[in-house]
Amino acid sequence: MSRSLLTVILAAGKGTRMRSNLPKVLHRIAGRSMLGHLLALAKSVRGEKLAVVVGPDMEIVRKETLSAAPSADVYVQTQQLGTADAVLAAREAIQGHSGDLLVLFADTPLLTQDTITALLGELERGAQVAVLGFGAREPGSYGRLITAPDGSLSAIREAKDASEAELKIRLCNSGVMAFRLDAPLDVLGQIGNANAKGEFYLTDAIEIIRSRGGRAAVVVCDEDEVLGVNSRRELAGAEAIWQRRARDKAMADGATLIAPETVWLSFDTVLGRDVVIEPNVFFGPGVTVEDGAEIKANSHLEGARVGAGARIGPFARLRPGAVLGRDVHIGNFVEVKNVSLGDGAKANHLSYLGDGSVGAKANIGAGTIFCNYDGFFKHKTEIGEGAFVGSNSALVAPVKIGAGAYIGSGSVITKDVPADALALERSGQEERAGWAQKFRTMMARRKASAAK
Ligand code: UD1
Ligand code: MG
Repeated sequence: MSRSLLTVILAAGKGTRMRSNLPKVLHRIAGRSMLGHLLALAKSVRGEKLAVVVGPDMEIVRKETLSAAPSADVYVQTQQLGTADAVLAAREAIQGHSGDLLVLFADTPLLTQDTITALLGELERGAQVAVLGFGAREPGSYGRLITAPDGSLSAIREAKDASEAELKIRLCNSGVMAFRLDAPLDVLGQIGNANAKGEFYLTDAIEIIRSRGGRAAVVVCDEDEVLGVNSRRELAGAEAIWQRRARDKAMADGATLIAPETVWLSFDTVLGRDVVIEPNVFFGPGVTVEDGAEIKANSHLEGARVGAGARIGPFARLRPGAVLGRDVHIGNFVEVKNVSLGDGAKANHLSYLGDGSVGAKANIGAGTIFCNYDGFFKHKTEIGEGAFVGSNSALVAPVKIGAGAYIGSGSVITKDVPADALALERSGQEERAGWAQKFRTMMARRKASAAK
């Protein structure tokens, strides 16, 4: 039986190297903050209890925490005195908890559920503490994992406090640790700050636990998984790894990505079976694409639902609230926002459809604009089933076009149109026979005399 788990996420770092007005952990990977990724991970792994440690003046981090995980407790670490001090900022949560303790850093957004599960598995196998380690390409300033001949962990040595020999160790501390302790506050309280940085190191817990007869275990993961983000460059590096994983998963789940490295997915993108994504497509948050739909090159989608068999793009833009039924066609340079389109509806060229609805099988001609905004309020355009809107029509909302109605090209429609009617708003055509020929002759003469 696994015990209950309290996850403490350390998010107090300001991240000065980001050169940002936003706290580091709120920077986004695949459309979700790094903290959001960690909270989702924590919830997916027996996340009964969550505590997030933030720095002072980080009200915005508290807000992000509570919107992603309303049941989380947020604690403020007033001074950054080290990772052990940061965990102790959540003292209240730890005190009231009898179970395991998991510590995560909010700036390592690529951690996976499987790895955390493996780490917690070590506690089940009798370790009092389990540390997530990795073979570092460049061990640099990471803490080194010092192992015993039996493979257990003897100590973690911070780089600044390490001997020459210890610095040669490539197995490094990711910062992720899980504890099964009877009195965690005792152990944490025993940690001092007599070290090179004058900080209270959480890593010192290992030797304390061992001195009390406890066993410390190591679980090794891939370095990519524990990549820490401290700069914009590292943020982009983490994004690239995240995207690679997500594209692989999308393809494994049955979507075709013709040029996967050019498709940008969001943390919550859902792609059905036999969906085809052409090159250079960007998915913002909140997009679902149902089976067999095709997203052609250079399209941008966000907050949209694409029905089965639909065909989008090339160069289409679907914005939040675009809800497309089966076999809908949205062509090049068409923008759709907050509009639902019934099955088989088409808007193939150069249009803005904002706020409203389009019935099944309706056809929206090239250059149609839903004039939805009067400078103060947004209004709706409602188009009935099977209606035909001629090219270059302006539909001034609020307005309703009845089912099966026709709108003549170039019309500015300001009044509702009944079902099956033709609405035409356009001045009569004037013709002057022979005018063009006379005009050309006159102009040619003028040009010839000007050249003399
Ligand atoms: C830490 C580990 C090191 C490990 C490395 C992995 C310790 C002592 N060292 O070192 O072994 O290899 O991470 O990246 O734990 N934080 C607070 N409050 C503090 C101090 C830190 O919230 O007072 C948070 C930071 O925001 C960050 C995390 O804890 O998310 C790690 O702190 P950091 O100062 O980056 O530790 P490192 O020196 O990188
Ligand atoms: Mg660090």
